[in-house]
Amino acid sequence: MNVKLYNQPVSSLNADLTLEFVTPAQFETHPHKTLLTQAGFKAEAEQLCTLHEHRLLVCAITEESNELYRSIMASALKAAMGYGYASLRVAITKENVNALVDGVILGGYKFESYKSDPKSTPLKDIMFANESAEHFEALESLFNQSVTIAKATNFVRNLVNQTPYDMTPQAMAVAADALASSNNLECTILDVTALEDEKMNAMLAVGRASINPPRLIHLAYKPANPKKVITLVGKGLTYDSGGLSLKAAASMVTMKMDKAGACAVMGIIKAVSELKLDIEVHAFVGAVENMIGGNAYKPDDVLRAKNGKTIEVRNTDAEGRLVLADVLGYAQENVKADYIFDYATLTGACMVALGPYTTGVMGHNESLKQEWLSAAEQSGEYCGNLPFNRHLKKLIKSDLADVCNVSSKPYGGAITGALFLDNFIDEDMKEKWVHFDIAGSAYTESAWDVHTYGGTGAGVRMSMEWLLKLNTQGNN
Ligand code: BES
Ligand code: ZN
Ligand code: ZN
Repeated sequence: MNVKLYNQPVSSLNADLTLEFVTPAQFETHPHKTLLTQAGFKAEAEQLCTLHEHRLLVCAITEESNELYRSIMASALKAAMGYGYASLRVAITKENVNALVDGVILGGYKFESYKSDPKSTPLKDIMFANESAEHFEALESLFNQSVTIAKATNFVRNLVNQTPYDMTPQAMAVAADALASSNNLECTILDVTALEDEKMNAMLAVGRASINPPRLIHLAYKPANPKKVITLVGKGLTYDSGGLSLKAAASMVTMKMDKAGACAVMGIIKAVSELKLDIEVHAFVGAVENMIGGNAYKPDDVLRAKNGKTIEVRNTDAEGRLVLADVLGYAQENVKADYIFDYATLTGACMVALGPYTTGVMGHNESLKQEWLSAAEQSGEYCGNLPFNRHLKKLIKSDLADVCNVSSKPYGGAITGALFLDNFIDEDMKEKWVHFDIAGSAYTESAWDVHTYGGTGAGVRMSMEWLLKLNTQGNN
């Protein structure tokens, strides 16, 4: 699908179908009010109506919020894709350009690599019209920025949606290497021997029973005079069977998505490099497969992580935090960053706490978390704060080792997961760290908002919003 912006009014663009957003007030004076009413259209929430005789697709918009524009644009696009039209035109403003671009590029996304006979849509051209004629350059740059970020989000979805057979830790390293070549990034891959040299025993233990050995991936984007240095860490479980604490059959399905944090950090560095931000970004990925076998790590094992702390394993399904413990350690040892953010499909408990659409935001720095909550809201992602407290911290104490990989109580699991990670954040980075639990938001089996079945690309849009703000703030 070609998505283009034109500096001319919508009526002057040559297209098969016109998309029009109509508020309840506009509906009252709409030239086709009678026809629309006959078709059952009432300008109520998220209603769509196509008047084929006028080549017009009308969408009700009950309030002019970007949240609604984003969702409705996605629904409208899906409807338009089902007709025989080749082109669609729609008016755009500086205010809704981001929402409409997301609606089209994210809403029109399909993953059909595993279909033998993918259905093609005749809809090829989406034409956005700048009605106001003024400030075209500002609109154009917002448009291009939104397109880049939405495409990076789809890049993440493509990675997440691949099967565990295709997207092994080794294949993730190949994908990272390809991204590095196309986007001029530095790329370092650590294999098992290198991980052993680095004493990353927690990560190695998780991957030991798999025939697909683990990889640590480090991508770096280094502009000439960076304003800040940012480290991103992603959980890359290419498959999470649970290990010996094996998941139940129904919970194991979808666990190819346990690499979504890793995919997100790759998507973020892709967008950052394409938008040429003045921010140095390092993306670290722990790519591992959690399997069963005679040599599998076990509940009762004690692991010594890279930073020297010992971990009592009581559940091999709490593996993401073990991988992250080592990758966080490696990242902090190798890069002195201004901020460190990790993205992980870490806990089912996060979904219990916040629902399936919302990313959990955790950390010690309240104002930094607030920045992220508003960046997420601006970007069209949902985030919720999950607060630490000193009592929850006691739940992961171990009688045997320095810390236990699971909580002694069945509640607050998303927070105790984050508090486990806190053990692997250096003292000077505590206030500069935020953990994102994307267990719910990273994957969906039913369409919602701009998302269709599969990976959602959670983390990319909100992170780009936060990073773009940092980029314009200068050296403070
Ligand atoms: N990858 C899962 C978390 C998850 C669950 C992500 C559902 C997406 C959907 C993680 O490794 C895990 O299994 N966590 C356990 C932790 C528990 C053993 C403390 C969980 O959530 O049950
Ligand atoms: Zn697990
Ligand atoms: Zn997992």
